[in-house]
This record gives sequence, C-alpha cells and structure tokens, in this order.
Amino acid sequence: MSKHIKPRSDALVFFGATGDLAYKKIFPALQAMACRGKLDFPVVGVARSGWNREKLIERARASVTEYGGLDPVGFESLVSHLRYVDGDYGASATFEKLKVELGTSHRPVHYLAIPPSLFSGVVSQLGRSGCAQDARVIVEKPFGRDLESARELNRVLQEVFSEESIFRIDHYLGKEAVQNILYFRFANAFLEPILNRHYVENVQITMAEDFGIKGRGKFYDETGIIRDVIQNHLLQVVSYLAMEPPSSTYAEAIRDEQAKVLRTVRPLDVANVVRGQFRGYRDEPGVSKDSFIGTYAALRLWVDSWRWEGVPFFVRAGKSLAKTVTEVSIQFKQAPQVVFSETSPAAVGNYVRFRLSPVVAIALGARAKRPGEGMSGVPVELSVVDGVRDGTLKPMDAYERLLGDSIAGDTTLFARQDVVDAAWAIVDPVIHGPSPMYEYEPGTWGPSESDRLVEDVGGWKNPI
Ligand code: BG6
Repeated sequence: MSKHIKPRSDALVFFGATGDLAYKKIFPALQAMACRGKLDFPVVGVARSGWNREKLIERARASVTEYGGLDPVGFESLVSHLRYVDGDYGASATFEKLKVELGTSHRPVHYLAIPPSLFSGVVSQLGRSGCAQDARVIVEKPFGRDLESARELNRVLQEVFSEESIFRIDHYLGKEAVQNILYFRFANAFLEPILNRHYVENVQITMAEDFGIKGRGKFYDETGIIRDVIQNHLLQVVSYLAMEPPSSTYAEAIRDEQAKVLRTVRPLDVANVVRGQFRGYRDEPGVSKDSFIGTYAALRLWVDSWRWEGVPFFVRAGKSLAKTVTEVSIQFKQAPQVVFSETSPAAVGNYVRFRLSPVVAIALGARAKRPGEGMSGVPVELSVVDGVRDGTLKPMDAYERLLGDSIAGDTTLFARQDVVDAAWAIVDPVIHGPSPMYEYEPGTWGPSESDRLVEDVGGWKNPI
C-alpha cells in the first residue's frame, strides 16, 4: 500500500513449522505466492519436532490439499524453496544451523508462529546469533493479555528489533473487505462530507459466528471474545471507520490516524458492555465448569472527537450465534418528514453497509417511490457484491497479502504498537473487573440484555 520503498527481505524463516498456524495458513499462503510467481526466496521452516525436510514437505502437501487445494506447479515451486532446521529454540546450535540454511540471504523475515511464551527465548537467540541483523520479525495476535502484558511483550521484541522491523499480524487488516472500508471512504467524494455527527445516527459492527469454539476450549477459556476478536479485529475496523483522512505523503500516515482515533475512544465501563456465554459452553472440553469467560460481548463505544461526538459505535461479536456474518452498518439520521410525512418505522433509514464476510459487499440503503398513487416509498439498496464485479479476479487471502507485504517491508497493514496499546486501553477496564454474564441459546443473536444498549436507536440491525 505504501509508496515508500524499503529493501526487500531475501528469505522467510518460520518458527513453529510443524504447528497449527503453519498448517492452516502459512503453507497455503506460500503456495499462493508461488502460483503468482512471487516466491523467489528461500523458505526455512524451524521446529523442535525431530522431523526432517521430507516430513515437512509431506506436512505442506497435506496442508495445501486441505486448505484451498494443491496446485501442482505452485506446490513444486514451494518445495524447491523449502528448507528445514530441527532443534531446540533455546539452543544456539539451532541458530547456527539456521545460518547455514540461510546461505547467502542476509535480510530474512522471521515469522514467530509459536506461542508468545516462547518469543523471548527465540528473539534473544536471533539477536545473539546475528540472524536478527537487517531482519524483520512477524508476530501473531494475541499481543499480550492486557495493556501491561502487551507492553512487556513489546519490550522483549524491541530489545532486538526496531519498531519498523516488527510486523504484528492482525489478519483482519489483510482482508480485502476491510481495506475496502478505507478505500471506499477516501476514494469517493460523496461519503466523507456526511460521515460525521451531523448526519450519522449510529454505527453498528457485528461479527457473528454460527459455530462454537471448535475444540479450542483451553485457549478460549483463557481468552474470551473481547481479547480474541474485539480488542484487535473489530477495533481495527472501528479505527478505519472513524479515522480522519490520512495523507499519502508519508509512510506512517494511516497508522498515525488509527492511533489518533483510537486514543479518542473512551475507555469502557460496565454500563457500556453486555457479556454473554452460550448455553453448553461450560461443557466443552478444556473449559472450566464455572467459567466466567464471555463467548459474546456487545459494547457501546464513544469516540470523543470533533467529528464523532455523541455518535454511538456499537460493536458486538459472538460464537454460536444465528449465522456467520461480519457487517458494518452506518445509519444516517432520518430525512426531515416535512415533504412526505412518512412515519412508519420502515420509513426510517438511509445507511451504508459494508459486508466483510462471508461475501464482500458494499451497499447504500435508500428510499425510492413506491409505484402507484400517493407519495410513499420503499427501501431499496444500491449494492455491489465482490466477484460479480469481475469474476476473473482471484481474491488474495489475508495471509498471502500480509506475507508479501512483510517481505516488501510495508508495515501499513500491520498493527503498530501504539495502536495495539490504544486498543488495550479501551477494553482494559472491563476485562479485569467482574461484570454480569448472561446465558444465551446457541443459534440466537445473543442475550436479549444487550438490547438495552441500542434501545435509543431502534435496536440492533441484524445482518440478513
Ligand atoms: C481469529 C479468532 O483471530 O479470527 C477466531 O481467534 C475467529 O476465534 C477468527 O473465528 C475469525 O476470522 P475469519 O477470518 O475466519 O473471519
């Protein structure tokens, strides 16, 4: 995204090569890069599993077959670039072997696809062995468990890597649909003049998933919905929706605006949060029988800026809800009713809708005259659905996009530390303190208690 050229990295090293993240995301992304002719550097997998290169190739084959399909040419290319280092992450011998495998590559990207508890050891070994020189590092969320631990994690990374060499993956930023929020807002002239407190009544962001925690009980019961998807994915979306226009004159403009706007979001208090847990959650393997972890949360956020003062931003996310859909809806104030005097609730509502998944769509909600006598209207939508625009365009998966950007040294779509900190500062007051927890039935839109947050704005806009 950035026009500011940085040196390309000349190798990708990924720690945790035999793990889950590599299996589900990294191998498919690498094959996709190979298919586009973009994989022109060595890829070194590192793990402490006692494996060899052949076993890793088999793992890569299974991975791409399960996630997206094996492309014979792309996969061959991936294999030709793939190397493997086996060894303990704490042992300097492992990093000596890594240097041998890197050969003439001197500007690697190191992807830490390992649990955060192992970061510290790997990062200091990278520093000590010289492998961190001119290198970049990729880390995955969670970036800490709260503001304090996020800062500590960052301290560990910054002992060896500078901020501009740290690439924090929030895969939401790699999604086309999320980037389109930014593009659509600022590439068009008609929306910006009305995107403020004079015209917008409220903004709603819903991330609903119709499945539960998919066997991730232990992880989930230490995490909960706010840490899992709200502090990161959804607050990134809020920042794209609420930020001021960035200027393309310097590389960090977008992330500066993100940080600025998130700092104007009021820290949450219990009155602006409703938490829920789906019935049956406590029976999931790995979940404690008296767990107080939320699988649903609804928030009312206030952005204390000149532009947004008094406009509520509602954010809700949940597991085991009625359907799987992520959508943003910007509701505009009603037109004055002096011309047509339409009073029914259906008469209310101009909006912009961004559907972020499963399909990508942008829609403008408006009213048009109902054919026939009288002057009454019907709601209509002007919409564009991705794929219909140009069926030949193969969408780029978030991980492929982000891996490519990290090789190119473009940090725009990665979470900068001050953005991460600002997001933690918003949720910090409610992730520690106790607050009521409401049970909800799987397959619904969550606990009805969350309706109280939106009673002044006509309720939740459930995506259809
Ligand atoms: C992950 C969360 O970060 O994002 C998951 O850990 C969630 O709980 C997932 O399901 C959603 O991402 P996507 O891209 O599948 O919509």
